[in-house]
Amino acid sequence: MSAENTFRCVTCTAPVNIAVIKYWGKRDEKLILPTNSSLSVTLGQDELRAKTSVAVSKDYTQDRMWLNGKEQSVNTPRIQNVLKETRKRLSDSQNETELLQNVHIVSENNFPTAAGLASSAAGYACLVYSLSQLYGVKGEISDIARLLLSCRQGSGSACRSIYGGFVAWNMGELEDGSDSYAVQVAPEAHWPEMRTLILVVNDQKKDVGSTEGMQTTIETSDLMKHRVTIMDRRMEAMTEAIKKRDFPTFGKLTMQDSNQLHAVCLDTYPPIFYMTDVSRQVIRLVHAINDIYEEVKVAYTFDAGPNACLYLLEEDVPRVLSLVQHFFPPSQDKGEKFVTGLSVPEVPVCSKDVSKISLQQNPGAIKYIIHTKVGPGPQVLTDPDESLFTADGKPKL
Ligand code: DP6
Repeated sequence: MSAENTFRCVTCTAPVNIAVIKYWGKRDEKLILPTNSSLSVTLGQDELRAKTSVAVSKDYTQDRMWLNGKEQSVNTPRIQNVLKETRKRLSDSQNETELLQNVHIVSENNFPTAAGLASSAAGYACLVYSLSQLYGVKGEISDIARLLLSCRQGSGSACRSIYGGFVAWNMGELEDGSDSYAVQVAPEAHWPEMRTLILVVNDQKKDVGSTEGMQTTIETSDLMKHRVTIMDRRMEAMTEAIKKRDFPTFGKLTMQDSNQLHAVCLDTYPPIFYMTDVSRQVIRLVHAINDIYEEVKVAYTFDAGPNACLYLLEEDVPRVLSLVQHFFPPSQDKGEKFVTGLSVPEVPVCSKDVSKISLQQNPGAIKYIIHTKVGPGPQVLTDPDESLFTADGKPKL
């Protein structure tokens, strides 16, 4: 490739989001339109983020993509969809020549895929955001994130990773889905004390994927019919709790909604089990801690897997973390850090607290803990060192 400006590249990062009011079920499989609205917290990107560089060049002979160091096919409906949708929304006509050029995409996560965390939402949001920056797309882009997933291989929840802070995905009513997109309920600075502990469970057994799981739920669960009737009220109550920074209400609703998601999974025929014995032990521990405090101080939520995501306020992290580490100590010291992310002042576990909790210690059940906080939406990185392309347009692998 010749050196002089034949290639143009944009690098962006996008965050992971963890829902406190869950999306589970589609009313339109093709357009990825949900049966209910959902609400999530966008997490800090120092700990959890996808990074994507996209480039166009007249020298590229075909569209290509590399994910976590390995080349992947771009000829999947979802990648083709996102390319088509972003190009359709192109607002800067100066880019017309580039539009006809092939695109190269390089993407990676800063956390292990094996952790079983919702990496796809961050990845798709990052791809959509990077392309929108490359082509100069303006306006509402969260619906592209939703549309690009119409092949059912992607992630509808990706549209919530387009914003920072507290984000709602309003289900909308229109058949064409044009009123179904993400909106920011509050920015990350609104509740700066909010913290998250992600407990990565050791046994990452594979169960039904969320796309297939939620479809079977819609087809078979009577409880799901009840769930959709209460979701508007739940969304309103959660939005109000966030606006008022009312942690006990926020926490209780978060736990109730996670429990109901897993109840509709159990009511699905055949039933779906995402939580494990360890997940249930974490639930018991959280309720025992809240009993000691005589107030909801910590809340759990579980997605389509056994990992727990705990929400709590900064002042309560040392005490809660000491109890989590007491009941779920690392199996042996392999020199790896057990708690990663934001630093926490270490406090010895309170023996009075321990004596009030009737739970067996379970060494090695939790692989590691990620400590993070509420974070911003996607970012554009301008430092060329951050690019996942070399100066002459090749992927850095
Ligand atoms: C349990 O977004 O992965 O995490 O749209 O079929 O790709 P598809 O599903 P996906 O579902 C996420 C479900 C969830 C809850 C949530 O994040 O709201």
